[in-house]
Amino acid sequence: MTVTRPIRNLALIGFMGTGKSVAGRAAAEHLHFTFLDTDHVIEARAGKTINDIFLQDGEPAFRNWERRIVEELTRRDKTVIATGGGLPAGEGNLASLKTHALVICLWASPETIWERVRAHTHRPLLSEGDQLARIRELLAAREPYYRQADVLVNTERRSVREVAQQVIHQFHTALAAHR
Ligand code: S3P
Repeated sequence: MTVTRPIRNLALIGFMGTGKSVAGRAAAEHLHFTFLDTDHVIEARAGKTINDIFLQDGEPAFRNWERRIVEELTRRDKTVIATGGGLPAGEGNLASLKTHALVICLWASPETIWERVRAHTHRPLLSEGDQLARIRELLAAREPYYRQADVLVNTERRSVREVAQQVIHQFHTALAAHR
């Protein structure tokens, strides 16, 4: 991996259940960076949960929130950003992240993702119907975006700690390439 642009932040992208928030928090702690989760920022700004935004305002309203937050992130420094699973598919979002952050994608198979998210109820896109089929469909649609990350980290059979270590290692490698 050779990244030739300035890097001030670290952005984690990837499907729901790949561990972006947990690994992101651990990486932020290690790097002494601020941790920011786009879903949490949106919930705080909107004054309601992601579920309620989807339910009351619709998915396009949520995607607008994401786009606005992504624009604001360009002003950040020393921040680890965990993004919502669908954020990289929004027009311009990935390109914007790449202007200031190293973009790392956490990857897992549909089956592993399903094992990790099946007990959770806070994800509106997985709340109805055949969950595994939905995961396969969404993951296939998003794969072209996820593959545009600077680095792909496989989270299969890896603990959160191992994933976080890998993320930190990749970030240090990218920074070292600039010196
Ligand atoms: C979404 C993923 C969620 C959240 C929202 C939509 C998606 O974030 O942004 O429910 O479109 O994949 P996580 O990836 O953190 O679960």
